[in-house]
Amino acid sequence: MTVVITPMSAEDASRCAELEQLLFPGENPWSADAFRAELRQPHNHYVVARDVAPRDVSGPIVGYAGIARLGRASDPENEVHTIGVDPARQRRGIGRLLLDALLVVADAHGGDTWLEVRTDNDAAQELYRGTGFVVVGTRPRYYQPSGADAFSMRRLAPASRREPVQR
Ligand SMILES: CC(C)(COP(=O)(O)OP(=O)(O)OC[C@H]1O[C@@H](n2cnc3c(N)ncnc32)[C@H](O)[C@@H]1OP(=O)(O)O)[C@@H](O)C(=O)NCCC(=O)NCCS
Repeated sequence: MTVVITPMSAEDASRCAELEQLLFPGENPWSADAFRAELRQPHNHYVVARDVAPRDVSGPIVGYAGIARLGRASDPENEVHTIGVDPARQRRGIGRLLLDALLVVADAHGGDTWLEVRTDNDAAQELYRGTGFVVVGTRPRYYQPSGADAFSMRRLAPASRREPVQR
């Protein structure tokens, strides 16, 4: 099987909601309607990961992710809204593929990229660290109904991440 990343469409919403139920059972998992509402916002960009066979490019969805392009043209920023991988397919590089796809969009838009992640979600934090995110703050009781705390993480815009030129 090969995994490909494609834009999410309204037809994908039900499967993504199914994955949300599996991945975020205690955190108000998004419904299919919630995904469709996200897709209607022009500043949002959502993708899915599909398992595809050589002659079947419409294979099953095994992950999804979304990002919002925010701010003014003179002061852009981005916010990762969600990312999830089918529990049966985790730890095989799919999360990284999805995140990389979002970061291509963020870098084209410009500005820093922000996200929130549960303070006890080591897997996601490691994934984010691997693409340049760092913890910049804590948001107590950010997640409801669980009341779990979140870290805010930020990835600087590519230009800000460059080392200063040595003279
Ligand atoms: C976080 C998540 C999307 C990662 O997806 P994945 O496909 O398993 O991740 P990948 O296989 O692409 O791993 C990429 C990197 O993330 C980190 N990582 C992923 N899973 C990890 C784990 N269980 N423990 C520690 N690090 C982990 C590693 O640095 C890994 O790189 P490596 O394999 O070279 O060590 C997945 O665990 C998931 O869906 N979790 C539930 C939903 C969730 O928590 N979403 C984030 C909300 S903020």
